[in-house]
Amino acid sequence: MAVTPISRTVVITGASSGIGKALALRYARDRAAVLGLLGRSGGRLQAVADECRRRGAVVQTATLDVRARYEMEQWLQNFDTNTPIDILIANAGVMAGRHLDTDIESSPDSYALLETNVLGVLNSIQPILPQMMARRRGQIGIMSSIAAFIPLPDAPSYCASKSAVLTYGLALRGALRKLGIGVSVICPGYVMTPMTQQESGWKPFVIAPESAADAIVRGLQRNRSIIAFPFLFALLTRLGGLLPNSVQRWTVPRFTVSERAQKDAE
Ligand SMILES: NC(=O)c1ccc[n+]([C@@H]2O[C@H](COP(=O)([O-])OP(=O)(O)OC[C@H]3O[C@@H](n4cnc5c(N)ncnc54)[C@H](OP(=O)(O)O)[C@@H]3O)[C@@H](O)[C@H]2O)c1
Repeated sequence: MAVTPISRTVVITGASSGIGKALALRYARDRAAVLGLLGRSGGRLQAVADECRRRGAVVQTATLDVRARYEMEQWLQNFDTNTPIDILIANAGVMAGRHLDTDIESSPDSYALLETNVLGVLNSIQPILPQMMARRRGQIGIMSSIAAFIPLPDAPSYCASKSAVLTYGLALRGALRKLGIGVSVICPGYVMTPMTQQESGWKPFVIAPESAADAIVRGLQRNRSIIAFPFLFALLTRLGGLLPNSVQRWTVPRFTVSERAQKDAE
């Protein structure tokens, strides 16, 4: 597949922390001169923006909740009109799972998670699709997870949200290919961010956010359909997902996502 050059204007949701922050700093270091950074926490977002500016990038920030469809649409369309977006990374997301003293995840957590991880992705992408289609150019990165490949009993909504955006992204890729727009679905394994620090349980093959950002930037540059990493963990998880459910039952319990915060509170 053709290698596209690193583009100049990059928008990242969830840029105030973890993988999104590492991506912002990574693009600021490269040839991406204009960054649009979104997040909910204004203070942390500004700190990331300041660091990106120190690295030479021009940065605009927006303190927005990805669930706010209208506000997202307004901001993204205004930004794109002034600075056509080359790469949009719908990265913002939350994780919820079974608390240590419960059998299943909580209902409010499930609703909030699906609104953020699924509808939030749509709210980040849909507003700029018409402009990208008119330009016949652009690259979209959708943050899924290795959890899309294997259903974890401790986190049904999280796994469902990541499967949903995986399928959505691959289908959208097919629809946009002839219009010159690339869509890549990003499926990281464990990345050491504030999100994973809230989980208890085994975290095999865990990597630093900076390594994740490198893998994502490379994958987007090559317009990979699925950017899954680290390689061995991604392979094992994808193969594991093909096992019969009766066998999976004996292999997945190690991947618990109960919240350490809950344990600390007890
Ligand atoms: N860490 C991993 O092991 C891992 C593995 C696979 C996939 N992922 C995915 O990677 C993405 C980033 O996760 P991370 O590990 O970097 O977590 P993180 O450090 O907790 O960062 C999450 C980011 O998403 C933003 N966010 C959350 N809810 C939002 C909302 N409703 N509106 C706007 N922004 C919102 C947060 O903004 P504020 O903090 O400002 O609210 C923050 O910038 C997520 O989609 C996650 O599911 C992570």
